[in-house]
Amino acid sequence: MVAAPSIAEEIQELKKERRAIILAHHYQESEIQELADVIGDSLELSRKARDYEGDVIAFCGVWFMAETAKVLNPERIVVVPDKDAGCSLVDACSAEQVRAFKRLHPDYAVVSYINTSVEVKAESDILCTSANAAAIVNSIPKEKPVLFLPDINLGNWVRRQTGRENMRVWQGACIVHATFPSRRVAAAKAEFPAALVAAHPECPADVLRMADFIGSTSGIIKWCLNSTAEEFIVMTESGVSHSLLKNAPHKKFHFVANENCNCSECPYMKRNSLEKLAACLRTLSPRVEIAPEIVERARIPLERMLAVK
Ligand code: 13P
Ligand code: SF4
Repeated sequence: MVAAPSIAEEIQELKKERRAIILAHHYQESEIQELADVIGDSLELSRKARDYEGDVIAFCGVWFMAETAKVLNPERIVVVPDKDAGCSLVDACSAEQVRAFKRLHPDYAVVSYINTSVEVKAESDILCTSANAAAIVNSIPKEKPVLFLPDINLGNWVRRQTGRENMRVWQGACIVHATFPSRRVAAAKAEFPAALVAAHPECPADVLRMADFIGSTSGIIKWCLNSTAEEFIVMTESGVSHSLLKNAPHKKFHFVANENCNCSECPYMKRNSLEKLAACLRTLSPRVEIAPEIVERARIPLERMLAVK
């Protein structure tokens, strides 16, 4: 009797049949990262999505990331394992709120974090990710006032990095990073005195002050792997442990729990599963569909971002 194919084997078969690429963010479950063609941060995955020449992009991340892939490569079919994989930052800022701000402050440049809806992107002058936010703000003429949205911690960190004073920052926050308490980081430092601290800029300022390195998810992984240190306190979602442990099994990585779930997992990212990935490749749904006019408008600030080195 021939054994039934495993779910992983089925996904590999479907991938060939569909001429699909599987893109996975570092916050995905390990079993999804194991099957992915590319694992990356939001900036790296945007570039990969833009350059893909096959038929289907299966985006294992959250919805705004899949929308970004569709905008950058609208000819491809973009599917997601779970359409309800959202993001608290997306929910913190609507296109109507941005339009209202622009009506009152037409002189401002609107710099939007990639963690926004495609409609907010369409209202923006330029986008950024956690990997390039300071460089993007620095690319705007000094005299031009800036609205940075929607992440308050990333925005305030960028303001400190760039020294930019004519910059307003939206009040949105990530439900994972913004609730990492500095006293728990202090406790971890006391428990593991040799450990260096690496943090994502969505963390609160008092956590970032304790960090030896601040950067995107890929930035954190590269820094920990390249460091001569052997032990780290990692202030981001625990999915990054997949690449960290795979590439440096001899090093130790400690994650500090946030106060919402007493873990460091993003509940949106963790909605995806192998079963849902197989189903989306099989049925080509849930599928990202965006009105052509919004695609055209959102593509301009995205391309501007990708042009900034
Ligand atoms: P990266 O830009 O580092 O991929 O982060 C995305 C994100 O959602 C962080 O919470
Ligand atoms: Fe959004 Fe935070 Fe989850 Fe990143 S970790 S996808 S910012 S809710």
